[in-house]
Amino acid sequence: MRILRGIVLGTLVLPLFAAKSEISGESELRSRLHSVFQRIEAQYRAMEAKVDRQPSGRNVPLDVRGGTNHFSTVKAWTSGFYPGALWLVYEYTRSGFWKDAAVRRTAPYECIRHFSADHDIGFMLYCSAGNGYRLGVNRDVYRPWLMDAAKALSTRFRPDIGLIQSWDARELAGAKMQRPVIIDNMMNLELLMFAAEHGDADAGRIARCHADTTDRRHFRADGSAYHIVDYRRDSADIFAYFAGQGASADGAWSRGQAWALYGFTMMFRLTRDERYLRRAVSCADWWLRQSMPEDMVPYWDFSVSGRPGEPRDSSAAAIAASALLELHKYVDESQGCRYRSRAVATLLSLTSDSYFAKEGTNGNFLLMHSTGFKPNNGQVDVPIVYADYYFLEALVRFHRL
Ligand code: GLY
Repeated sequence: MRILRGIVLGTLVLPLFAAKSEISGESELRSRLHSVFQRIEAQYRAMEAKVDRQPSGRNVPLDVRGGTNHFSTVKAWTSGFYPGALWLVYEYTRSGFWKDAAVRRTAPYECIRHFSADHDIGFMLYCSAGNGYRLGVNRDVYRPWLMDAAKALSTRFRPDIGLIQSWDARELAGAKMQRPVIIDNMMNLELLMFAAEHGDADAGRIARCHADTTDRRHFRADGSAYHIVDYRRDSADIFAYFAGQGASADGAWSRGQAWALYGFTMMFRLTRDERYLRRAVSCADWWLRQSMPEDMVPYWDFSVSGRPGEPRDSSAAAIAASALLELHKYVDESQGCRYRSRAVATLLSLTSDSYFAKEGTNGNFLLMHSTGFKPNNGQVDVPIVYADYYFLEALVRFHRL
């Protein structure tokens, strides 16, 4: 009887809910997915052939500059995104070809399992081996790498400030930083939370402590995130704020805002701590309040929005779209619809010819028009591997809705 009532209710209620929650543009995006993934597969098959032609220690796709594909070693902060992108293509297609490619390109990452030179090991190993683990492949191999990597990242935790120090003391644009902490660091907490779930309680404490302190000390009153907060070496006081890849220390670097939004959304998923949800919502609302070009792809820094000649950053758009597709599930329906519809509008734009490269172009990367480091003229308006990664993740998340 109860089952019958469930079926009857389901039949009556679900279609109503589905109709109500249909977002403008969603059917259009859904109808594009098949051909979008056909083009993705064609581009990445060609990219795989390029990777095969590179020397084995320097064969991780990074970007295209001056019309030439550039590759990195597995020690670059961006190294996890290419194998991660292959895992995401496998997740969508479930094809043995992409699974084998992902396994093959992830194999060399064992050598960075103890990497502690900076905070980026989360990006490097969680996007590569972490995705393999998530998809149930080679778990016994990847789990110990991830556990070691979390230990390595934990060595950068500074209990007196309650944060993971991103880099050792170093110079940036002629200024000496003492104990710098970058907003991107939020992304690396997923690796620590994985380790916590597998028995490393310290890793979990460190991740929460880092997120708590970031929540308290790394945001302005208007809700935007500082890019780099530098702490004094001998106290918990802030020494200075740095612009880093942004236009100025008091500006809002677009990708940094997207990292903050994604990082707190992810921490809410993994902890169910309402404070992280509040911060994620505040980041999302900040993002939605900004004046954005009609195509929803921001300029590289919000302070230069609309200034002629300034480049966009499609990577920031992709990261934000992926985060909003997750966050929309954690809030009430009307707020969720706003987030979901922004994500869909962004993905419609990213899958259009303005951003999504035609087969055989763009060095076989997927997205055009990302900006990595405008102030030092590095990677301006080019394809960059992390844009592809979050674009794919957003498409897969959309597909799963
Ligand atoms: N994590 C460095 C960047 O987003 O460029």
